[in-house]
Amino acid sequence: MTNIPVTPAGRKSMVPPADQLGFGKIFTDHMFVMDYETGKGWHSPQIVPYDQFSLYPAAMVLHYGQAIFEGMKAFKTEDNRIVVFRPQEYLNRFNRSAEILCIPRMDVAVLHQGLKQLLEIEKQWVPGKLGTSLYIRPFVIATDPYVGVKLSDAYKLFIILSPVGAYYAAGFNPVSIKVEDKYIRAVPGGLGEAKTPANYAASLRAQQEAKKEGFAQVLWLDAVERKYIEEVGTMNIFFKINGEIITPALNGSILGGITRKTVLETARHWGMKATERKISVEEVFAAHDQGQLEEVFGSGTAAVISPVGELSWKGRKITINNNQTGETSQKLFDYVTGLQYGKVADKHGWVEEM
Ligand code: COI
Repeated sequence: MTNIPVTPAGRKSMVPPADQLGFGKIFTDHMFVMDYETGKGWHSPQIVPYDQFSLYPAAMVLHYGQAIFEGMKAFKTEDNRIVVFRPQEYLNRFNRSAEILCIPRMDVAVLHQGLKQLLEIEKQWVPGKLGTSLYIRPFVIATDPYVGVKLSDAYKLFIILSPVGAYYAAGFNPVSIKVEDKYIRAVPGGLGEAKTPANYAASLRAQQEAKKEGFAQVLWLDAVERKYIEEVGTMNIFFKINGEIITPALNGSILGGITRKTVLETARHWGMKATERKISVEEVFAAHDQGQLEEVFGSGTAAVISPVGELSWKGRKITINNNQTGETSQKLFDYVTGLQYGKVADKHGWVEEM
């Protein structure tokens, strides 16, 4: 792969101290961009200064939401290497989302090369402290200036970088979750399995109401029967029942998380029973009543593992593992973050040096 052209930013912003990061508010000095027009295909990959850019007010993304994004992370290991966790998986999912949103397929090799060069330029922005990382946000928007509903004939792709700390203010402490039985996140045959802004827009109202009621997040149920569990907040969900870990099977309305996949593969590698199947909220409450619900946790790129301490459904609240972080949640968190910071040997080939 030939080198991608770079226009230097001509500035060197101050890299913030690791304890002042928060999540997603600070961006590095450069970004990767690439354009698409019908007839020309994806072209002109380049690295340019991170800056504002112009778009026609008629740009289709602003009206009809044809857009996709990804989220992955780069880490600085103890021996000062810059590594990315499972980049190929994230880039493949980016193309899967593109397919669902009818966005032209991207060449993963070009994105990989662009990311590699961008990280080389911005390597001083990768924080080293445990719990911090450089969040990588690739995204594509439809830029065609046209207000009729059709597929766009022009797209712009970006990869921007943000040094981050913890995603949730609660950090790794167990949170209280509301089982959402009024609003839904995604429907069968819809966009649920794509990483597209519409899914996040659809989650805001429920999230806002749950927050007012004192909950951290909502537990999403299926749109048809309002019975089966799908996701939690912006994460996938796992239940540990009687020694077995269970997560809802991918059914088209659930996002296929890379951390979800990592959790399943890791648990199986440890010899645990890890199952993907339909699981109803009734079953979870019944398992609790029988003393078999051992742990509940969310999995996602941003927070890795997020323990659930309480679940409320139709006025009934259950407490999980005395509102303490469970043994498996802790072990998974330690293992995955251990791989990411180079403390644990990578037997799977998940950690890629960039
Ligand atoms: C995740 O990584 O868990 C997310 O989906 C959060 C992201 C949208 C900021």
